Amino acid sequence: MSEHVRVAIEDNILRLTLARPEKKNALSMAMYSVLGNALIQAQSDPAVRAILLDAEGDAFTAGNDLADFAAVAAGTLDRKQMTSQVFLHALAHADKPIVAAVQGLAVGIGVTMLLHCDVVYVAEDAKLSTPFVGLGLVPEAASSWLLQARIGYARAFAMIGLGEQLDGKTAASYGLVNAAVPAAEVRPRALAAAQHLASRAIGSLQASKRLMRDAALIKATMDRENEVFGARLATAEAAEALQAFSERRAPNFRTIVG
Ligand code: COA
Repeated sequence: MSEHVRVAIEDNILRLTLARPEKKNALSMAMYSVLGNALIQAQSDPAVRAILLDAEGDAFTAGNDLADFAAVAAGTLDRKQMTSQVFLHALAHADKPIVAAVQGLAVGIGVTMLLHCDVVYVAEDAKLSTPFVGLGLVPEAASSWLLQARIGYARAFAMIGLGEQLDGKTAASYGLVNAAVPAAEVRPRALAAAQHLASRAIGSLQASKRLMRDAALIKATMDRENEVFGARLATAEAAEALQAFSERRAPNFRTIVG
């Protein structure tokens, strides 16, 4: 269990709320486990007809807890023990509709998980970024493929390669999310969408979602990325980036080759 994820089922909606605002909702391994297991259980729970993913505080999530990446890079944590894959595989296979409400920062997996949600509302002033290259890493959550499929290669590479950050309005104009709304309206709007979905024909929704998403291909892409991601964590580039984050300075990659 993790006190940093609230799990509640109400009116046939499984609500998963990130609740670690003091760390900008950075996702720890305990949080991934709770999220992943809740999604897996929801698959066979007739009480769950829709899933709502939201967050407390001023950020959706600052992405993976960098302390865990640093532990893997330092060899004190076995990459295979990282539970992010439990969450990602559960997302890949989830066929009940998922709605997300995003305010403030969405970083790394905070953006890539949205590619697995079916309806996404963001705050107009939200900030979405995928700083994998800035960390010496590579995209995950099948985003190396899904992001460009969603918004086109040029825009996807600008996010991944150039490290460009999108505001909520731009993300909506790119079709990355459904709509950008004033921050105070994000969670109510997402809840209303989840309530509407929960009232609809669940069998039909699930069958539609399975037709619209190739879960096996998504998982295969995730697994391929995960292999490269693990290797990247062992590089001098990742070590420099993680060291720089802990020292609150910009990384210096110029003297590192590969
Ligand atoms: N992992 C672990 N801790 C994190 C974190 C992360 N991904 N993101 C933020 N935090 C922590 C900070 O270390 C800080 O902790 P402290 O108060 O104990 O020092 C706290 O959350 C608040 O973050 P802070 O950096 O002070 O807030 P900010 O508004 O100045 O900046 C971010 C917010 C998200 C821009 C900045 O924290 C950041 O760049 N985080 C890393 C994001 C990232 O690279 N994620 C991985 C993507 S793959």
